[in-house]
Amino acid sequence: MELAGRHIVLGVTGGIAAYKAAELVRLLVREGAAVQVVMTEAATRFVTPVTFQALSGRPVFTDQWDPRVANNMAHIDLSREADALLVAPASADFLAKLANGLADDLLTTLVLARDCRLLVAPAMNRQMWENPATCRNLATLRSDGVDILGPASGDQACGETGLGRMLEAEEILLEMVAHFQPRLLADKRVLLTAGPTFEAIDPVRGITNLSSGKMGYAIARAAREAGAQVTLVSGPVSLPCPQGVNRIDVSSALQMHAAVHGKVAENDVFIAVAAVADYRPAMPVAQKIKKGAQAAPPPIELVQNPDILAEVAMLPAPPLCVGFAAESEKLDEYAESKRRSKKIPLIVGNLINDGFGGDDNTLILFDDDGQHPLAPAPKLQLARQLVARIATLLAERQ
Ligand code: PMT
Repeated sequence: MELAGRHIVLGVTGGIAAYKAAELVRLLVREGAAVQVVMTEAATRFVTPVTFQALSGRPVFTDQWDPRVANNMAHIDLSREADALLVAPASADFLAKLANGLADDLLTTLVLARDCRLLVAPAMNRQMWENPATCRNLATLRSDGVDILGPASGDQACGETGLGRMLEAEEILLEMVAHFQPRLLADKRVLLTAGPTFEAIDPVRGITNLSSGKMGYAIARAAREAGAQVTLVSGPVSLPCPQGVNRIDVSSALQMHAAVHGKVAENDVFIAVAAVADYRPAMPVAQKIKKGAQAAPPPIELVQNPDILAEVAMLPAPPLCVGFAAESEKLDEYAESKRRSKKIPLIVGNLINDGFGGDDNTLILFDDDGQHPLAPAPKLQLARQLVARIATLLAERQ
């Protein structure tokens, strides 16, 4: 439960995307948050308060003069209870009021009275989004420290296509979870590799491995949550790119090597999570190899791939380099010897049966201070612990 103990006030304004806010409440509650919904009068025309009451388990507030609030200060009481205020969907009208400090209903009043972070997920027609007035209002809100989530681009309820769709509920949930993580890597740039590589033998066959990319993608997400600017060089996997992460898709080790070298100079940290093929076929065949064309099965001559991590660590001014080692035995000995041979400050060891493919893992961090075992846990949780260790090493470096 990523939001256990968090108290979130969800403001819903008038727009067709209000129906997505119902799903958002369900997801926030599922993650352990206490959700208090406050709706504008226009929002109640799209979805009834009863829907939100049923999903949040709390009565919904719509009126500044609600007789249920004895002191008539719902705006103060509600905002003081909140760890975060989220407005989704946030209409163009609401953003305009917010940018100008207007407070003419319960939601605008409590937003103005807040003493916690405010996140808004805009939703409107693409022309409204592009209107200079909306652009001005957004610039004001950004400079006031309001977090703007999205919007996304795509089909709109009005039949047009473009920017202005509210983010999906799942995406807003991830932003909320990220919002509560410590900003340990604020202003840092992190480059990662993840997943397997695919080394072609012919147009349909190749050498690869069982890496799913889950560990690397979890670290990319954790680094982004911690405030880093993240570039993920990914081998072929079937995972969605973590929100806010810049992904570069590659297939072979040589492509991964080129992508990393194209980006590494801009980064403070390099984390090599990928299971890179050590060898590739020397001469991939242009046409499909046909069975029976030769008397014996065709031999496949292999040549060695460059060691991406070792090369990065040898650069004149390398980023903080973190390696991974997946071993079937003698984890301590092999991981530490890889750390020394690649001359990197930190390597993360995992057993093959723990690491490959699953949602959970068990890690041991090896650095100059010795070994730091991390208890078995979901990969995202371990990724956050690794990010914390990397932040400490970065601070020690400065
Ligand atoms: O993707 P998942 O299913 O979640 O699985 C995660 C994982 C098990 C793949 C991951 O946790 C892991 O252990 N990755 C490293 C796998 C490994 O054993 O790599 P290696 O021993 O071949 O290489 C050691 C280090 O050098 C790694 O950081 C690797 O990325 C890097 N390397 C290796 C070879 C090469 N040519 N270039 C490299 O950069």
